[in-house]
Amino acid sequence: MKVKPTDATLGAVVTGIELASLEAQTWRGVEDAFHEHAVLIFPSQHLSAEAQVTFGARFGRLEQLVPGMEIVPISNQRKDGSLLADSEHQMQVLIGNEGWHTDSSYMPISAKASILSAHVLPDAGGETEWADMRAAYDALDDAMRARIEGLAAYHSLFHSQAKIGHRAKVGAGYGFYEGEPPLRPLLKRHPVTGRTALYIGRHAYGIPGLSEQASEQLLTDLVNFACQPPRTLQHRWSVGDVVIWDNRCVLHRVRPYDHRQARVMQHTRIQGDPATESALSA
Ligand code: OGA
Ligand code: MN
Repeated sequence: MKVKPTDATLGAVVTGIELASLEAQTWRGVEDAFHEHAVLIFPSQHLSAEAQVTFGARFGRLEQLVPGMEIVPISNQRKDGSLLADSEHQMQVLIGNEGWHTDSSYMPISAKASILSAHVLPDAGGETEWADMRAAYDALDDAMRARIEGLAAYHSLFHSQAKIGHRAKVGAGYGFYEGEPPLRPLLKRHPVTGRTALYIGRHAYGIPGLSEQASEQLLTDLVNFACQPPRTLQHRWSVGDVVIWDNRCVLHRVRPYDHRQARVMQHTRIQGDPATESALSA
């Protein structure tokens, strides 16, 4: 197995292994690299759905974004090959992914990691990007660190979707549930590495103690500061590539593409540890 770090503060390209048949020692190497680099790119793996689920389950319990399903398409194409219109609920959720976010921060237990594999790709655009929230925290000045220490924000998928003009209904899909959104500190200590990371992104809003406007301004300023080189990494996909990222310390987003072309990815999401990824309010 070869682990080649990228030029950014996060991410490595891993070659010389087959994720579909990992031996115990190789798996330990993958897990160590995951903790160190936070984003691992495995080119040309061509995993079956079953093999992706098996790989994901090594990291922990899998979230079911659709009841009974541990792998779900992130796709603008229906089973019959037709494409979704931008106005449809599912497409609005995919368009939401164009904003920097971390997965399942709006759920009572946020995600540990997510896996994406590429199956059908548009001719241009549709890259995925990640940003290193550990390095972003390290780069903050003392005044900003002092300002955000002790602050928390609510995380809601209704809220983030409303910001792009999508008014979703309760029960419309994963994350669109009734009840109080989770409240989460702006600073997150990584349960394995102990590193402090900014925990922000598009689902975050409404910092208690700040006006709505001051909260929005602070969260926007933090994302704009954090998601800059050398802390960002872009992957231009080839069919068969697999990427895993650590939602506890990185943000991600998809870049725009022409929705008249199909883009089919398969997504597996690993649930966080209730001991460390539960909301403050839980
Ligand atoms: C996701 C996501 C981005 C992409 O799967 O959680 O945000 O590139 N995907 O499709
Ligand atoms: Mn996502």
